[in-house]
Amino acid sequence: MQQYKYIFRAIGLLIVSIITVKVFAKYATVPLVDYQEEWVCGTEDPPALSDDLRWKGKSSFQRQCQSCHSIFKDLTGPALFTVGDNPFWIDNKKIAAYLRNPKSLGKYNYIKELRKKFDSGHTAFPEISDEEVESIMNYVSFDANRRVY
Ligand code: HEC
Repeated sequence: MQQYKYIFRAIGLLIVSIITVKVFAKYATVPLVDYQEEWVCGTEDPPALSDDLRWKGKSSFQRQCQSCHSIFKDLTGPALFTVGDNPFWIDNKKIAAYLRNPKSLGKYNYIKELRKKFDSGHTAFPEISDEEVESIMNYVSFDANRRVY
């Protein structure tokens, strides 16, 4: 009879260890994370993926906006680094619509105040696409975030 007791205990232990291993295997696997999605500001170089868009944005900015705008300083037009956090510009599409037809937003007090301050209306860019403005604003906010004070 003694032998049966040992056999039952052995089977019991075996079952418990199998369950333990299964549970560990389920919860202990390291998830595969694309390192490019793991970028945290200030820790490493930013993801290479955005480079294309950013460089396109930079050249568009230099070609069409830099004569009046700097990222950090007010020139003929306002510094652009605050635009990303400005609740008036809900998204880049609104900026694009404004650039295509600056008069379209002229009725808003925010724009009226800007015009008073900068003593000018905006040049129209009738051909500028949503994508181009997106890339310009990506470049602007990227460089604004990277600045080391
Ligand atoms: C000829 C000068 C000039 C050029 C070129 C120019 N801007 Fe402007 N920009 C201004 C002025 C002046 C204002 C102030 C608002 C106004 O007058 O409508 C302004 C305002 C803005 C604003 C709103 C800023 C804020 O603080 O809310 C954005 C965004 C902007 N410009 C983006 C651009 C982009 C992007 C380009 C290039 C595609 C560009 N601008 C080219 C003169 C210019």
